[in-house]
Amino acid sequence: MDHFLYKNGVLHAEDVSIPEIAAAVGTPFYVYSTATLTRHYRLFEEALAGMDHLVCFAVKSNGNIAVLRTLGQLGAGMDVVSGGEYLRAKAAGVPGKRIVFSGVGKTPAEIRQALEGGIRQFNVESEPELLAISAIATELGVQAPIAIRVNPDVDAKTHEKIATGKSENKFGIPIAKARAVYAEAAGLPGIKVVGVDVHIGSQLTDLAPFEAAFLKVRELTLALREDGHDIIRLDLGGGLGIPYTRSNEAPPLPIEYGEVIRRTVGDLGCEIEIEPGRLISGNAGLLVSSLIYLKEGEGRDFLILDAAMNDLVRPSMYGAHHDIVPVAEPAPGTEQRPYDIVGPVCETGDTFAKGRAMPRLAPGDLVAFRSAGAYGAVMASEYNTRPLVPEVLVNGDQFAVIRARPSFDEILGRDTIPEWL
Ligand code: LLP
Repeated sequence: MDHFLYKNGVLHAEDVSIPEIAAAVGTPFYVYSTATLTRHYRLFEEALAGMDHLVCFAVKSNGNIAVLRTLGQLGAGMDVVSGGEYLRAKAAGVPGKRIVFSGVGKTPAEIRQALEGGIRQFNVESEPELLAISAIATELGVQAPIAIRVNPDVDAKTHEKIATGKSENKFGIPIAKARAVYAEAAGLPGIKVVGVDVHIGSQLTDLAPFEAAFLKVRELTLALREDGHDIIRLDLGGGLGIPYTRSNEAPPLPIEYGEVIRRTVGDLGCEIEIEPGRLISGNAGLLVSSLIYLKEGEGRDFLILDAAMNDLVRPSMYGAHHDIVPVAEPAPGTEQRPYDIVGPVCETGDTFAKGRAMPRLAPGDLVAFRSAGAYGAVMASEYNTRPLVPEVLVNGDQFAVIRARPSFDEILGRDTIPEWL
């Protein structure tokens, strides 16, 4: 469910009409709904009610500081994967004790930054990383709280580029080796073992792989406790999928996912952490674009938009589907025809959809990409020297630009010409 509905024939974000925002900021732009972000965060809170828990929003899905502050004020923790994301979480007002640091390649500078600024735990992905964290923590005279990310060798049954829990993936420590690595960790002076971490992939639409992974984590937790480790937290990662099409079979609900957690690890007395990104931010955002040209080709008609693959890369990168809807609601019975919907970037891959049924549009007409709040703006680039598009946050009948479109002076000003030229 989201808060982007037609009212009087015009698409709105909550109580603000999309054309009103377009007139104020120009297209393309991203727009997020506070009500949807809040609703989705609360669904996870309700799903874990009764268990000691922290919902850590995956900043990688949407890192805008205003979005993070919206969630942080509701009590969310943050899951970060870089020093930059850590700074964003801090800038949003989230204290270090609610920030977990994941990722396979944390640099010494990032480890130091998190230890100095405060961190809930590092999710450690390799033995060399464990040694590096211990060395830096010892130098700073502290002990770093850690969980080890185990790779449970479970098939998440999702797109190969976003599956992470198979043994061939680069993530985590093979679960069979975990006891030995925990023993090593317990002997390191700068390390304090606090938990076990797992994350098997993203956009999962079936609960069975979660269940299989959490059962393996359960077994491991019991074994580690036998070995004398004090396992007080389980970080179960993110990955619950969202509906990208209205017609699609509905993916499992957070409440059902919570039930899986409850029945697999709920009795272990551990604090439960989860790291959802897409389910909170995905359907809380639209990318709004306008039509530049309707190009009638041979046997194929093209809608050429002012948004492109650099603004929303998911269709060209993963073959991902996003619903694309006209902002002016078509009258019932309006004729629809198939169009290829493309951007202006000079690559055939800059195609959002092929043969998509749409009503006839005219240049200047607005369209909205649904489900664009996660892995949209954060994955954008300035390819073809197209400025990063602005982001707007709506709350009820108010809206604010939460990241402005950069000027060409700013963009060009980042380059410098060596003195010998
Ligand atoms: N925790 C870890 C350790 C992760 O690697 C991820 C996502 C998450 C949490 C959040 O997963 P979510 O709840 O959002 O599924 N760019 C791709 C998605 C990449 C996901 C990477 N890791 C896409 O656009 O589909």
